Amino acid sequence: MPRHFLTTQDWSRAELDDLLEQAARFKQSKQGKALEGKAIALLFFNPSMRTRTSFELGAHQLGGKAIVLAPGKDAWPIEFDVGTVMDGDTEEHIAEVARVLSRYVDLIAVRAFPKFQDWSVDREDRVIHAFARYATVPVINMETITHPCQELAHILALQEHLGTKDLRGRKYVLTWTYHPKPLNTAVANSSLLIATRFGMDVTLLCPNPDYLLDPRYMEHGRDNAAQNGGSLKVSHDIEDAYRDADVVYAKSWGALPFFGRWEQEKPVREASKHFIVDEAKMGLTNNGLFSHCLPLRRNVKATDAVMDSPACIAIDEAENRLHVQKAIMATLAGQG
Ligand code: CP
Repeated sequence: MPRHFLTTQDWSRAELDDLLEQAARFKQSKQGKALEGKAIALLFFNPSMRTRTSFELGAHQLGGKAIVLAPGKDAWPIEFDVGTVMDGDTEEHIAEVARVLSRYVDLIAVRAFPKFQDWSVDREDRVIHAFARYATVPVINMETITHPCQELAHILALQEHLGTKDLRGRKYVLTWTYHPKPLNTAVANSSLLIATRFGMDVTLLCPNPDYLLDPRYMEHGRDNAAQNGGSLKVSHDIEDAYRDADVVYAKSWGALPFFGRWEQEKPVREASKHFIVDEAKMGLTNNGLFSHCLPLRRNVKATDAVMDSPACIAIDEAENRLHVQKAIMATLAGQG
């Protein structure tokens, strides 16, 4: 069985630290040979700007080849149900897709967002798990219901800006923000996982308990905090959450109880536009850093003033995607 990179929870702290150290080295010296003669298939079921660019470029800089596929658009639509009579829209089964690609390439990376109809289905993350089940090469998560590559890029940016690899004791706020559409919880789940993993004192700030994350990630967050000397608390009080924060990370997401009936969530969402990250809120922090995974709607999630301030490290975090993904690809490609 190959080793996959599906969630940081499957990787030890020492292994994550090693990936971050490799990434820092790649940041200093771009070129490498770790993927010489090798190839990676990048499968996008959803759009991307940063992920596609950084994976494709990263593979090239390591001497490898990236092949980008959009199943259902420029590649055949894939069936994931087992034992189904495939007389609908899908043309081939994941059992063939993953095994055929494994004969061609050395790594498979997958982006597959939730369908936003039924969280009890989406939380099983079945697309990437099906790839991991049938592939005979390592599979990398390019964002499903978590975004582990973003996690590492985020932590590397924090370590760089805080001037230390030891993030324990820092007050970290993950704040929900308004967005006109219900978005994926992936980055919020990931923020919770990685901030607690690195021992920070994490506050999840959201309008009301409907915006709590899936119990699986809340539980991982509490366990991570207990094991790494940090803490996790939930707050619906904006001032209290922001006060003395060292890091503010913003993300919008759809409330899980409203999956499939988003019109009913809309009034709560519309009434919570004041969760926008602005200068007044950042003024409550301990000269805190601000970041976001991007893309970000300016003056909806965060103001121009915050995005253009020295506190904003979102561009550095986005750059770090390239470096951490090279570390992940190099590590997984070298395991055989
Ligand atoms: N942050 C991130 O994954 O960006 P893209 O959706 O543009 O890939």
